[in-house]
Amino acid sequence: MADDGLQAVVSIAGQRSFKGELSVPGDKSISHRALLISALSSGASTIRGLSIGKDVQATKAAIIQLGAKVSARADQLIVEGGPDILRHPAGVINVGNSGTLIRLAAGMTAGLGGRYTFSGDESVNSRPMKRIFAPLMQMGAEIEASNNGETAPFTLHSHGLHGIRYEMPVASAQVKSSILLAGLGATGITTVVEKIPTRRHSEEMLLEAGAQLEVVQLANQTEISIERSHLKPINYDIPGDPSQAAFWLVAALILPDSEVTVRNIYLGDLRSDFLTVLRRMGADLTINYISNNSGDVSARSSQLNSTTISPDEIPGLIDEIPIISVAAAHASGTTVITGATELRVKESDRITVMAAALRSFGVEIKELPDGMEITGGGHLRHGTVSAHLDHRIAMSSSVMAATVEGVTEINGFDSVESSYPDFLAHFEQLTNH
Ligand code: S3P
Repeated sequence: MADDGLQAVVSIAGQRSFKGELSVPGDKSISHRALLISALSSGASTIRGLSIGKDVQATKAAIIQLGAKVSARADQLIVEGGPDILRHPAGVINVGNSGTLIRLAAGMTAGLGGRYTFSGDESVNSRPMKRIFAPLMQMGAEIEASNNGETAPFTLHSHGLHGIRYEMPVASAQVKSSILLAGLGATGITTVVEKIPTRRHSEEMLLEAGAQLEVVQLANQTEISIERSHLKPINYDIPGDPSQAAFWLVAALILPDSEVTVRNIYLGDLRSDFLTVLRRMGADLTINYISNNSGDVSARSSQLNSTTISPDEIPGLIDEIPIISVAAAHASGTTVITGATELRVKESDRITVMAAALRSFGVEIKELPDGMEITGGGHLRHGTVSAHLDHRIAMSSSVMAATVEGVTEINGFDSVESSYPDFLAHFEQLTNH
């Protein structure tokens, strides 16, 4: 058993249909940033709709450790922050399973100055951190890290940073955000050059909080520049997480007699591209916009066709590839996904681990160095899955399990607590109608 209740091994009986309406947890990327930016803002920010997953709880604990004052009132969280009340923490900042927290908090604390030690679980402590160490060290931070300077645990020491111009070697919103948060406390101008666009929550939220930040869109690249800034408190209202909604929407598409509506999810650029891909595959989807960036999305049982997902599409649907691969297993023809090497350095190696999971269900799947080829249909049966500390593998496999005869065992199911503790309860709610 996991410490707060979800079992490590869960059995899922198949051949269900999904029906109903629900809300999913608040967007995880926006939740992390709302907490970190509130901690940096002088005064009291309020946050509604924060993700209830363990990853974001770890970020809340981290800002409290850094000196922010956090209290709950009714359905909102109040965060009092600002450089005057932040302090160097006693002990290690434990990020749990969260790559976003460790990378963003490293940039933020480097900008604040002082000495900080970060560590996480086995998954985080094996993920590549040089991608943030290189720019932060160029800015003046000193870093001592494990595995010859490659991974967490690491200790970061900074006595003031200076701005740099940094061309991103990988498409990563976490790396971009780490540098921007460091740049917020650096002298001079820090510029991040992105050839391949990634999610823009940090830029948008820092601008809203009053950061001196400028985004210049050139023909072949985006240049984001930031200067030392005084941040003001904001009232954040966080919509539902599209990456979590994707599980229920795909479940409704691939199971007969199904229709699901997920209310109020974030639909901004570079987060909702999976809907475009699913539509291309023949999905019957309806979007009712609530604002420019959010809306209710409904999905109904559909006959899906295979598709080709090209490298330039990957950053806009990076977290949805596991559940898209489940959709592909139910589409006619062969779906080809390439340019997705980054999937190998997520909470698990999502190419190898997802391919093994789908293969256990009888899916014909070929692993490529940078993606996979999945042939739909075939003779599917119940599987046996190992989630490898990866919530998205556990949740994608649960949806796959719902489509086949028999009972599938998912080992490491409790990993879903990092982003979606109510996943199993919602699964039961949608399938018991
Ligand atoms: C995230 C960025 C992406 C994504 C992760 C959340 C963020 O990671 O996969 O789940 O909030 O910035 P990368 O920056 O490593 O691509």
